[in-house]
Amino acid sequence: PEKCVVAVDGPSGSGKSTVSRRLASRIDGVYLDTGAMYRAVTWAVLQAGVDLGDPDAIAKIALETELSIGTDPTAPHFAANGVNVDAPIRGAEVTQAVSAVAAVPSVRKHLVALQRAIIAGHPRIIVEGRDIASVVAPDADLKVYLTASAAARAQRRSSEDAADVAATQADLARRDQLDSSRKTDPLRQADDAIEVDTTGIGIDEVVAYLLNLLNSKV
Ligand code: C5P
Repeated sequence: PEKCVVAVDGPSGSGKSTVSRRLASRIDGVYLDTGAMYRAVTWAVLQAGVDLGDPDAIAKIALETELSIGTDPTAPHFAANGVNVDAPIRGAEVTQAVSAVAAVPSVRKHLVALQRAIIAGHPRIIVEGRDIASVVAPDADLKVYLTASAAARAQRRSSEDAADVAATQADLARRDQLDSSRKTDPLRQADDAIEVDTTGIGIDEVVAYLLNLLNSKV
């Protein structure tokens, strides 16, 4: 396609990142990892030593943090206040704190505005997150909701992190619960999103299926 916006939402470990990056490469488009934006802000909040129970203080840091947001699907690098954060935003500390930061309404408002500006600046873009189809890009050409069984999601994540599967499954459940139950823009499947269960399906197959769907739509 010449122009398209694809929204890819779903819980942690559903395969969103891998699928979104491959899809972006296949259409010669860019990739926006909105989770990495929430993670980069969380990194800055932790650096500032702010109390995670203080939403006003969290919001203040979020608005002050200068983000550099990479959109290259093969190497999406992120920096916060000039510091490369590619490694720390995947670390346990940030993962533990990110749902609390992402639940602060003014943090979301700020990042959603940035996300919309990035989307507007690119003709072909795959956007992954939790609220892309419902909030960030309700006019997306294709809306995908990726799921997988809790066991499959934990298996995938723990092989990426070399972490214990049971501990990973518990952490994913904890984050999904927080992300689905928050007041502002919770994780949910948009009415017009196509659900794809990736349990036991290869990435290539999922990408090929979505590429077909996209080509039939735009
Ligand atoms: O996708 P990822 O696991 O990197 O996202 C990290 C966290 O960022 C999620 O657990 C969620 O709290 C938050 N997030 C969000 N809205 C998005 C993307 C991520 O609230 N669009």
